Amino acid sequence: MGKILVTGATGYIGSHTCVALMRAGYRVLAVDNLSRSKVASLARIQMITGIAPRFYNVDVCDEEEMNWIFRDHLIDCVIHFAGLKDVEESVRQPLDYYHNNVYGLLQLLHVMQRNRCKSLVFSSSATVYGAGETAPYKEDMKTSAVNPYGQTKLMGEQILRDLCATDPEWSVAALRYFNPIGAHESGLLGEDPSGVPGNLVPCIARAATGQTQALSVYGSDYDTPDGTGIRDYIHVMDVAEGHIAALREYTARHRGFRTFNLGTGKGSSVLEVVAAYEAACGKKIPLSMEARRSGDVAVSYADVTRAREELNWTASADLERMCADSWRFVCQNPRGLE
Ligand code: WQD
Repeated sequence: MGKILVTGATGYIGSHTCVALMRAGYRVLAVDNLSRSKVASLARIQMITGIAPRFYNVDVCDEEEMNWIFRDHLIDCVIHFAGLKDVEESVRQPLDYYHNNVYGLLQLLHVMQRNRCKSLVFSSSATVYGAGETAPYKEDMKTSAVNPYGQTKLMGEQILRDLCATDPEWSVAALRYFNPIGAHESGLLGEDPSGVPGNLVPCIARAATGQTQALSVYGSDYDTPDGTGIRDYIHVMDVAEGHIAALREYTARHRGFRTFNLGTGKGSSVLEVVAAYEAACGKKIPLSMEARRSGDVAVSYADVTRAREELNWTASADLERMCADSWRFVCQNPRGLE
């Protein structure tokens, strides 16, 4: 099996994908600058798989450092997770987001080109579907961005589309994640946000453990059955398996640029996720109904036809499993990964 370089490998989706890759027999080179994740992830990956991934504490923006890695290894494909991903932070610090997410991608592509490695799986996001479109979102729908984070993902896709159009040797699968949640079933890996989280499930977990008095519910007046926002929550291990499918069914067989939605094709409301989490943790989650959060859309969920037909991949875990796995990680790691 091939040698895969994973950037952002100690992060949430990156670490779970390393587990899936190693379980599938791939050899993994893990790269991360540890700015938003912890080196402790590596020991957890080893505890789960029995193998310690080769780790490089390197920033993808550092072209020369990255070049040394490519000179030492014959790399079949790169899976590029490294980047910043907090929408609200991107509004406050746009230059950090353009530097890390756009300049970082450009530096990586230069190194790949220098070393004749032209196979990439790119971490994109459902954020690129503009507010003008209505769910279920399809890959050929119009895209737009309403915040710098979404812009960096749109720019990344455009850079890769243009690169593939000019150099037919390139193969790029851009995976548009919907809402990854949950944790590895062992409880050894999970979502361990640095700082105060913005995403729903880590916020529910903080209310469930008493770290916060209540979960703030941002908007209960949306045009949805229970008035709260609807999203397509997908188990992080299903997202990880989606990357394996992209390697096997796309980059190993095809050239050119192609986007794929990674979602379940099913929407769940905030209150439905709360109910599933209450069943998982056996506690009532206190709620504070608040105003809508700026930039939120009412409903977002994926059309998953293309990934099913072209990658032979579909998500399998349901909301109850996602919440049960998340709660197990929270209970086993009260202070996060350490
Ligand atoms: C989900 C729903 C909130 C927190 C973002 C990024 C996206 C991706 C996933 C990177 C919404 C509601 C949330 C809370 C709440 N990240 N909510 N109380 O906004 O769909 O997507 O994270 O790729 O790019 O945009 O996810 O988890 O923040 O919110 O009521 O404390 O939960 O209003 O309806 P979102 P989210």
